Amino acid sequence: MSEAGVAWQRRGSIALVTLDRPERMNALSRALVARFGEIGREVAADEAVRLVIVTGSGDKAFCAGADLKERAAMSQEEVRALLLAYETELGWLETCPVPTLAAINGAALGGGLELALLCDFRIAAQHAVLGLPETSLGVIPGAGGTQRLAKLLGEMRAKELILRAARLTAPEALMLGLVNQLMPKSDSFLHEVMAWAEPILAGAPLAVRAALRAVRGAATRELREGLALERDAYEVCLRSEDRLEALAAFNEKRKPVYQGR
Ligand code: COA
Repeated sequence: MSEAGVAWQRRGSIALVTLDRPERMNALSRALVARFGEIGREVAADEAVRLVIVTGSGDKAFCAGADLKERAAMSQEEVRALLLAYETELGWLETCPVPTLAAINGAALGGGLELALLCDFRIAAQHAVLGLPETSLGVIPGAGGTQRLAKLLGEMRAKELILRAARLTAPEALMLGLVNQLMPKSDSFLHEVMAWAEPILAGAPLAVRAALRAVRGAATRELREGLALERDAYEVCLRSEDRLEALAAFNEKRKPVYQGR
């Protein structure tokens, strides 16, 4: 594991990014945030990657948010710079051309939940706690939490969770629509998460990317504009060899073999 406390490896076509600062509950130090940005650039350069999974080491924490010990020694100016770095160095998860998934293996609090909110999917272990408790610490969420939680759950729930500094259990988070799925606490948590993601990897690679681009675009577009985006994304599939392969496989009653072309 790198000194910065985050590293990645490719497992098949999955880029697995692991936060690993167990003594600080995988909290986001400045060094970790900087390295996370570099990892984004490395992952982007690897054409074999078809899914990104972010997780934490151990089973206690996905990420406990800002490193509150480091933060205590930081000046206002340094905190401002770090808030900007959250956007530039973590933001790649949201614009990544392939799907991103937060495998929430334990507590996801503050910046930890904000990191998970940058991902397309969130799967939580049954024992995870999730929340944005910043107001109880004299600040507010500073890595996009106020905006992304409001977009995901609506203003009413976002106000409730953020202003009450709520810590949700995983079943509560599922009920609110904050996570896609729960998995039992077990040594095979990550394995189960990967199994959940299998249908994504089984899809035609260009189609998965195109669908992702179209759905992500819905949040910021009027319907007419969104429909134009959908047509544009469809066009990529229409011209692909994999579309013809899918039709041939269907008619020949066999599984398609996709090439990503
Ligand atoms: N930054 C730095 N260190 C942290 C941390 C953080 N965000 N969260 C936990 N740690 C450290 C603790 O200080 C402790 O270190 P110590 O043993 O040297 O005192 C160690 O991690 C273990 O934490 P502990 O609280 O004893 O573990 P736990 O299993 O009982 O609880 C959490 C885990 C994550 C639920 C709890 O640590 C917690 O609530 N952390 C604060 C999270 C938070 O408020 N984040 C929002 C920041 S804006």
